[in-house]
This record gives sequence, C-alpha cells and structure tokens, in this order.
Amino acid sequence: MTSATTTATTTATIPEGPSTGAPFHTIALAEDGWAVDILDQTLLPHREVTVRMETLEDAAHAIFSMQVRGAPLIGATAAYGMALAMHADASDDNLDAAAKTLVATRPTAVNLAWAVDEMRRVLGSLGANARREAAYVRATEIAAEDIAINHGIGTSGLPLLEEIAASKTGGERVNVLTHCNAGILATVGWGTATAPIYLAHEKGLDVHVWVDETRPRNQGASLTAWELGRHGVPHTVIADNTGGHLMQQGQVDICITGTDRTAANGDVANKIGTYLKALAAQDNGVPFYVALPSPTIDWTITDGIKDIPIEQRAAEEVSWISGRTEAGEVERVCLVPADTAVANYAFDVTPARLVTGLITERGIAEASRGGLAKLFPEYGKA
Ligand code: MRU
Repeated sequence: MTSATTTATTTATIPEGPSTGAPFHTIALAEDGWAVDILDQTLLPHREVTVRMETLEDAAHAIFSMQVRGAPLIGATAAYGMALAMHADASDDNLDAAAKTLVATRPTAVNLAWAVDEMRRVLGSLGANARREAAYVRATEIAAEDIAINHGIGTSGLPLLEEIAASKTGGERVNVLTHCNAGILATVGWGTATAPIYLAHEKGLDVHVWVDETRPRNQGASLTAWELGRHGVPHTVIADNTGGHLMQQGQVDICITGTDRTAANGDVANKIGTYLKALAAQDNGVPFYVALPSPTIDWTITDGIKDIPIEQRAAEEVSWISGRTEAGEVERVCLVPADTAVANYAFDVTPARLVTGLITERGIAEASRGGLAKLFPEYGKA
C-alpha cells in the first residue's frame, strides 16, 4: 500500500509508527491515487488482506462491517469516504447524501461525525472541480494529523511508564493492562493507548502488556495481540474476567485504554467492559488512564453516562465465534442454545471519577471539564 501520508504536509518529522518490527498500514491511498486501500480487520489475525474501496458505499460498508474500526480510523475512513463520493459526483446534493450515509454507519465514535463535519466545512463553499481535489487533500491531512496526534499522545504518556520503571528497584518489568484495541489498527498510526507503550518499547523499557481478549468481537485477542506481536512488544492475552485478579496480585502497574467518545465532563465511552476494569482498578489502587486524540472529545455532551449513544450490534457477534481450526481453516461456530435471547452492547461509559487522567496530544488532563478546558481552552470553558 502507498502511505496515506505521501501527499500530506503535516507529518514531516513524525514517524508513522514504531521503528521496531514489521510496519503496516491500516488505510492508504491506492497506487492510482484515487481509490483507497484498507487492511480488512475482520480477517485478522489469520489472514492479512487488503481491500480496495472505490465508492462511498464501500467506505460505509467498511465502517459498518468493521473491516475498519476504532474511533480515529473510522474518522479517517469517513473522510476518505467523502472523497470517494466527491470523485463520483461532486454536487451539493451528493455532498449532503454522502455525509448522511457515513454518519449513519456507527453511532458511538464521535470522530466519525467530526471527520464528516470537517469535510463538509472544507468542501461546502467550493465548486465541483475544486471540491474533488480538496476532498482528497483534506482526507489525507486528517489521516496524517491522526498519526501526529497519536505520536503526541505517546510523548505525553511515556513519562508515566518511565516513572513506574524507575520505581522498580529490582528492574522488574512494567505491566500495562489494556482493553479492546486502541492500537495502530484503531488509528492511522501509533494507536492511542499503545502509543506510550510503543515509545517505551523503542526506548528499551521492559514493558509487558496484559491484553484483555475483549468479547464479543475479540479485538484484544485478535487485533492487539497481532500488532504487539508484529512490533515485538511482550504481551499476554487474558480472558476478560482476569484483570481484577491480576490487579489484586500486584501484577498490573497501570491500565491504559482508548475511548470512542469523551464527554466534556471527562466521562469516557469505550469498548464494553472498560467500566468494570476501571472499577477493579480503583478498588486496587491501580492508576487508570484513558488515551485520547482531541477529535474524540465531544464538547456538546456534559454527562457521558446519560447522553453518549451506545451502539447495539447484531446478536450473532455474541452467539457465534470464529477461529482457526487445527487444519488451518477459519470457521464459525455457535456458542449458545438455539433461539437464546442475546444482547450485544458494544460500549459502556466509565465515569470521570474512576479515571486517573486523560492522556492527550497536549499532555495529561484531569478527567473533568476544567481539566480538559485547561488543555483545550479554544473549545472548553473551565
Ligand atoms: O467497536 P470498535 O472495535 O470500533 O471499538 C474500538 C474501541 O473501543 C477502542 O478502544 C476505541 O475506539 C479507541 S481506539 C484508539
């Protein structure tokens, strides 16, 4: 794949990801310069397949079916989806229709609506010809900005891991617990929760990651484990219910997760199960940090628990599971008795009071309106 940053200007000095291991791209302009290639995450970790998106519908399908997922990558894909729509028809009507189609794909990650609004803002006043070109330029900038922002999150969060390492007089490893995949695969580069981890690993810190498997879709077991493995970061996959026990045993130094939408009061929506980890962390005195790029902050929402929309997905994601057989085939099997009622809530909200701090590209904020407003005075009012 060609790098998504080749036509962007904002990342001249920002590497796209860790220098260790085997780099990969989650999304990139295709060789022909107009279609968009994505890594199909529904096939990982067993198959690495690049899918070519040529239409708005391809982009909407990729987001809805979770070929791409993770809040920042959903945003970047939506931006490219707008560019693909403009490539086909740059009329005002199609600009409106494309925005509507993309925003309807998934409700919780606010980066999606942010990216679509941003594309509309830039394209709205342009004529059709200028619009086509500007759409690709802005989409590629959004992708490049994501890399730079996440690298900034890494720089902000790295001292947390260094302090823990320094406090271990016997040189023991630093144990980080993470939930879901808030890694490179959830972004255009570096990941959010993983950015400090990758920087620490690059610097030679002995970091080990407890990876929650993250039922029902297993983003931890399938995706986080895959990308940490590719970069040589020591990690261990655990069943979702294991974290509390490990915390009681002193085997978790810090939790770092991502978020799909952060309310202005510091409440964070993230993959279902994050809330339970935050509760266990508080009970055991383990610091619980959430890493977020600023486009994930929804300044219009003041009470995350009440107002962040929680996506509910197909029951089959809970009742069926896929995996590789010993013969090497990938197969799906059913886990529950026929006709069992199943609920599939994709996200939950962790209240700000359980969050030790929000790791952003501008530094670490207290999880509160005042804390966020201090770092982002142009948006929030303390
Ligand atoms: O349903 P998903 O896989 O899109 O959910 C992803 C998450 O919950 C991530 O933790 C979140 O988007 C932060 S990603 C940097």
